[in-house]
Amino acid sequence: MSISVDDSFLDSAGATDELAEDARTGLTSIPKSLPPRWFYDARGSQLFEQITELPEYYPTRTEAQILQAHADDIASAAPVETVIELGSGSSIKTRLLLDAWQRGGTLRRIITVDVSASALSEAAVSLAARYPAADVLPIRADFTRHLDGLAKTGRTAIVFLGSTIGNLDPAERASFFSGVRSALEPGDVLLLGTDLVKPAEILVPAYDDAAGVTAAFNLNVLRVLNRELGGDLPIEAFDHRAVWNRLDERIEMRLRAAREVWARFSRIGLDVHFDAGEELLTEISSKFRREGITAELALAGLNLTHWWVDPAEFFALSLSQ
Ligand code: SAH
Ligand code: AVI
Repeated sequence: MSISVDDSFLDSAGATDELAEDARTGLTSIPKSLPPRWFYDARGSQLFEQITELPEYYPTRTEAQILQAHADDIASAAPVETVIELGSGSSIKTRLLLDAWQRGGTLRRIITVDVSASALSEAAVSLAARYPAADVLPIRADFTRHLDGLAKTGRTAIVFLGSTIGNLDPAERASFFSGVRSALEPGDVLLLGTDLVKPAEILVPAYDDAAGVTAAFNLNVLRVLNRELGGDLPIEAFDHRAVWNRLDERIEMRLRAAREVWARFSRIGLDVHFDAGEELLTEISSKFRREGITAELALAGLNLTHWWVDPAEFFALSLSQ
């Protein structure tokens, strides 16, 4: 069975145009940077799933542990008909929640939103088989731009797991939360996963694992650039780095040129230069505190009503209205 992915918000040609724009800006500015959404072609989505299984990468299993303990509390606090999952990926953890909503008897529609077409279509097949009474609608879209226009019916939960919110900077988060606020009606909720601040000795290995899977994930963005834009970046000339930025309380993933690099992106006529030692910022992964995220939500008009954590307080799930 296959379920077709709605790509009316974002199709492959549109995505390539946006990548070209981001490459033109991000690879010619100082310091160089790219938005993290470009990791996630089919290979990047698979590598992310491998990351979730790594011993050093605690967020996925910790969030699953919280869901395991509290999915029924969440479903009774918010008995919704429509679940909109943003940055849904494989939606594996989400099953814990959907099972609870299904047990509650309210679930009618599951909308998954992701930039990765392969992740969306694989997940949709499993979701449709597991929840036959619900419509499953996979939508390829950018959650920073396409929140309005998602076809919700009845009471709705917007679900944003994995602490993907931490991959946005504070200004992007403010704009994202105000988009969520506009999309919600009375009775609707936002369920948000946030990774919490903890010692660098735990954080850094989570983003620089011994098996090198996170390094492969980080370097994958160079393969995406080369393939989509006709580039000749020498991937072997770059090293993966994960740095804890103590001041901004975020992990920064970077790619450092081990030598001077010249590259040409023939499809868009772009030449790029890296000095030896120059870095490209490929992702921020912000870590949160309860007061900070409560205030960010409140600024957008979202009222945090529930806060669930694991026993070690590594990760939090919150419900806002
Ligand atoms: N929610 C899953 C997956 C997290 S990985 C989990 O908790 O394990 C982040 C997911 O967000 C990926 O599937 C990626 O393709 C998607 N993503 C990243 N940036 C996005 C954007 N701007 N719009 C929509 N999806 C995005
Ligand atoms: C998707 N996102 C929340 C992950 C994170 O932890 O910031 C992506 C990731 N990057 C490296 N490892 C995992």
